[in-house]
Amino acid sequence: MAEAKRLICASQELPERGLGVRFSVETDRGPTPAFVVRYRGKVQAYLNRCAHVRVELDSQPGEFFDFSGLYLVCSTHGAAYVPESGYCIGGPCKGLRLTKLAVEECDGGVYLLNNEETIHV
Ligand code: FES
Repeated sequence: MAEAKRLICASQELPERGLGVRFSVETDRGPTPAFVVRYRGKVQAYLNRCAHVRVELDSQPGEFFDFSGLYLVCSTHGAAYVPESGYCIGGPCKGLRLTKLAVEECDGGVYLLNNEETIHV
């Protein structure tokens, strides 16, 4: 049985609105890319899959924020997402959301929660 909680990275690897950390989660489609970023001090994690077309958001590994540092952005067609909710506020998939993953930060680490549950994509 898989662990309920899995270490993704050390807290210090996630600077505020800086490069995110890419990782992989098990879904009903097999291993699927995901990422975690820090925004307003909190960690936020999502499947690395645009709500528009099933492509990864970052063309350069870890570059998920736009130039303003206020939104997560898809490098393919420019969809902009609110970092806390994954809600798309602009672009071809406006009104849709990224798939959010449960994470927590404690003891200097960032952990994926509910790791034993199958994520449906
Ligand atoms: S694939 Fe992301 S905006 Fe089109």
